[in-house]
Amino acid sequence: MADDLDDVTDESSESSEALIAVHWREEGYYPPPASFVAQANASDPAIREQFTEDKYPDCFTAYADLLTWYKKWDTVLDTSNAPFWKWWVGGELNASYNCVDRHLETHPNKAALIFVPEPEGDAHQAITYRELYVRVNEFAAVLRELGLKAGDRITFHMPMVPELPVAMLAAARLGIIHSQVFAGFSGTAAGHRIADSGSTVLVTIDGYYRSGDLLDHKVKADEAVEAAAKEGQQVDKVLVFRRYPGQYSAKTPMVEGRDVFVDDLLAAHKGEIVEPVALKATDPLFLMYTSGTTGRPKGCQHSIGGYLSYVAGTSKYYQDIHPDDTYWCMADIGWITGHSYIVYGPLALGTTSVIYEGTPNYPDAGRPWRIARQLGVNIFHTSPTAIRMLRKVGPDEPAKYDFHFKHMTTVGEPIEPEVWRWYYDNVGKDEAVIVDTWWQTETGGFLGSTLPAIDSAKPGSCGPAALGIYPVILDEDSNEVPAGSGKAGNICIRNPWPGVFQTIWGQPDRFVSTYYAKYNKDPKSTDWRDWPYFAGDGATQAADGYFRILGRVDDVINVAGHRLGTKELESAALTVNEVAEAAAVPVVDDVRGRMVEMYIALKPGFDASPEIEAKVKAAIETDIGKIARPKNIWIVPDMPKTRSGKIMRRVIAATSNFTDTGDITTLANPEVVEKIREQVQTAK
Ligand code: WT7
Repeated sequence: MADDLDDVTDESSESSEALIAVHWREEGYYPPPASFVAQANASDPAIREQFTEDKYPDCFTAYADLLTWYKKWDTVLDTSNAPFWKWWVGGELNASYNCVDRHLETHPNKAALIFVPEPEGDAHQAITYRELYVRVNEFAAVLRELGLKAGDRITFHMPMVPELPVAMLAAARLGIIHSQVFAGFSGTAAGHRIADSGSTVLVTIDGYYRSGDLLDHKVKADEAVEAAAKEGQQVDKVLVFRRYPGQYSAKTPMVEGRDVFVDDLLAAHKGEIVEPVALKATDPLFLMYTSGTTGRPKGCQHSIGGYLSYVAGTSKYYQDIHPDDTYWCMADIGWITGHSYIVYGPLALGTTSVIYEGTPNYPDAGRPWRIARQLGVNIFHTSPTAIRMLRKVGPDEPAKYDFHFKHMTTVGEPIEPEVWRWYYDNVGKDEAVIVDTWWQTETGGFLGSTLPAIDSAKPGSCGPAALGIYPVILDEDSNEVPAGSGKAGNICIRNPWPGVFQTIWGQPDRFVSTYYAKYNKDPKSTDWRDWPYFAGDGATQAADGYFRILGRVDDVINVAGHRLGTKELESAALTVNEVAEAAAVPVVDDVRGRMVEMYIALKPGFDASPEIEAKVKAAIETDIGKIARPKNIWIVPDMPKTRSGKIMRRVIAATSNFTDTGDITTLANPEVVEKIREQVQTAK
């Protein structure tokens, strides 16, 4: 366990994002339009009284009751093996049944998914609940034929195509634990996750469109299988969907005996029905890998009952989803946002969820608004990075199209108030509410947000805690930082909630040490009050109770809403032969919020050159993926270090961000700081 403690206590976290956070002034309130309030799922402020601490944990039965259970639970929350919380113990259900089958009775012919391909000339595909039912059953039959069963793991490395939710729901039908790896990650990154989860089957696709190019995605499967094999994990089967059924769109050949086209397999299972398996509420539904402080990504394990109830409840009250809405979340299903708020939450509520294959500004920044107009989207969900980009390249585009949102979400990073206002005025057209939802891969669903028909929005703040969530801001000595004090601290959640992840796959000690050890009052306690959840974010709370999230306090950099561990980046750079030392720091970026800058010191005998820079860039793209590409790589004469030899990331981050380096007199080599500053700041 000691090794893992550096997830939270490593002193190099002095470069953390929260330290370079821009401090905005307090903004005014934006009350919800009357037209929104009149139709909202939650419009009576009394709903808060149902979720006060004296009604906890039973208050969450309001969420569980949104689902259909084969067997009701005996115990709402079991804390006996703290902090491995168990929700809805004794209950049995199936996520696939809840997202598909049960809607057949009420609205079989309504679109469950609408797929919008990136090429604008290609027709969109509406998949009704009945069609989804057929597809999910047929693919479940394929998985069953391969011998996969409840508790086995399966890895998907899939882009934004409807085959991905079909595959997820097929796995969930049988209790197979799915692990979807974001398609933008490299084959090697997928391979690490295959090995960690112990998957023997990989599901992929030949190609997909991104910014006008039909990418060869199959090539990544070959790299993934090879990388997994190096870690001792054999992949027996690679199932390849075809982007254009009947026609192969990749240059990479199929591997005899290992690779199989899904449409060939499906032929033998036409119309086959696979009964959903009644699973325990506490059984795992999926793993979602995310970055931490140490090198190895963490497979966050989410439960069937707790997770599904939490995403259904928050989709209803915070996304304000009704079955007759057309809901579009422009995130990627490869991230938790897509799992919770493209697939499981919206489909559990029986609404129509839009899946867009491509980038928001392809072929131009009017694309999202044309899609919204054409499909009649009325709930829109995206990230500050996408909003910043659309505002930058197409500020006047929204006004050109006749679309009307009632509700909009921003998620994943802090949003600047002026960007928020552009979103509100131009995209929302003064008709829509905005929720700024704060949460994490680990938390399954929203932790902080306004209730859109009840609370006014305040640009730059996520709002108060979500229903049934009791946060507290703590300082390093476990003292509470009071609301309205203007002081920042570590935001923690005092209580378990149904959506919280169950453990890190295969690393239970790391789970406890990273998230619960820091503020635990007694390691033997089975009282949840002794186990505050440490979120890893810096935050302030205003006198009105609204939280402002400042960013990560650990060695994680949130680039465009995607978490990258500094150690992962540094280990990738260190694979380049000439590199002696590497340090990754966050730098403020106009569009992406934060980006990575990489500082490199070379081994003796090597001189800085564009070739070495290119090698570092390539190493990062191979190990992690293009999303991790640094904004700049600085090859410096030496790293500023403490006397014990530790690289001072705080000083480097200050150089990149033109902020004050603070006291450097205790460094072993203070003279190097000035040299680096001159080199970097004159080049910028
Ligand atoms: C980190 C979690 C939220 C799901 C997608 C990202 C940051 C998230 C907000 C927000 C400011 C936010 C935090 C958090 N973050 N939402 N509304 N305002 N910061 O999930 O990849 O697990 O990242 O994203 O720093 O810890 P993730």
